[in-house]
Amino acid sequence: MIKIKYLGHSAFMIESSEGTILIDPFITGNPSATCEVRDLKPDGILVTHGHGDHIGDAINISKETGALIVAPFELATLVQKKGANSHPMHIGGGRKFPFGYVKLTQAFHGSGFDDEGSMVYTGQPCGFLIHVEGKWIYHAGDTALFGDMKLIGDRFPLDLALLPIGDNFTMGPEDAAYATKLLRPKVVIPMHYDTWEVIAQDPEAFSTMVDQAVTKVEIINPGEDYSLNF
Ligand code: NI
Ligand code: MN
Repeated sequence: MIKIKYLGHSAFMIESSEGTILIDPFITGNPSATCEVRDLKPDGILVTHGHGDHIGDAINISKETGALIVAPFELATLVQKKGANSHPMHIGGGRKFPFGYVKLTQAFHGSGFDDEGSMVYTGQPCGFLIHVEGKWIYHAGDTALFGDMKLIGDRFPLDLALLPIGDNFTMGPEDAAYATKLLRPKVVIPMHYDTWEVIAQDPEAFSTMVDQAVTKVEIINPGEDYSLNF
């Protein structure tokens, strides 16, 4: 059974028989975080892009635990220089790791890392397709709605999609509902909202826009778990 733990914002912990995957671990400085960084012991850390609310504590967790950071090449190179353990990939590439199969998708957004006050550009941002225990999970990262979400849905029978609904920096609820229609996952969990006022949203409003005969909307609060047990 796969356990999805929501850590707030875009941060999730995916626990399966193959290992523990941490995605976009923004804990320190995250007003919605409910856990302690020292309690996170992942095998792999997937980072979608260099913005502080996604790379978060990834470097420190990798240094502390030895967990492998998987990220687009430019970002993987930067975190390696800062002492983390990393594996570079890029959009369209997939690889089997001990903790699961990971494939990078495009995301329409920016990717810069705030390096002590100066912005270092870290290539293209990405989303992740994760295959564990025979299930396909898509974490969209920060992105706009894009038409090739249909391609992702056609190529991979998604069991779960994690989609931003916060608007302003990413898709808002209406675009995220349209994205759900293109992706056709069995379950969608909204993310990247309510952390700050600028991305305040009503997830129930998103829920009413999704055709729940196709996709079930699961709204989970930071600190809560969802079990993928179908
Ligand atoms: Ni971002
Ligand atoms: Mn973000």
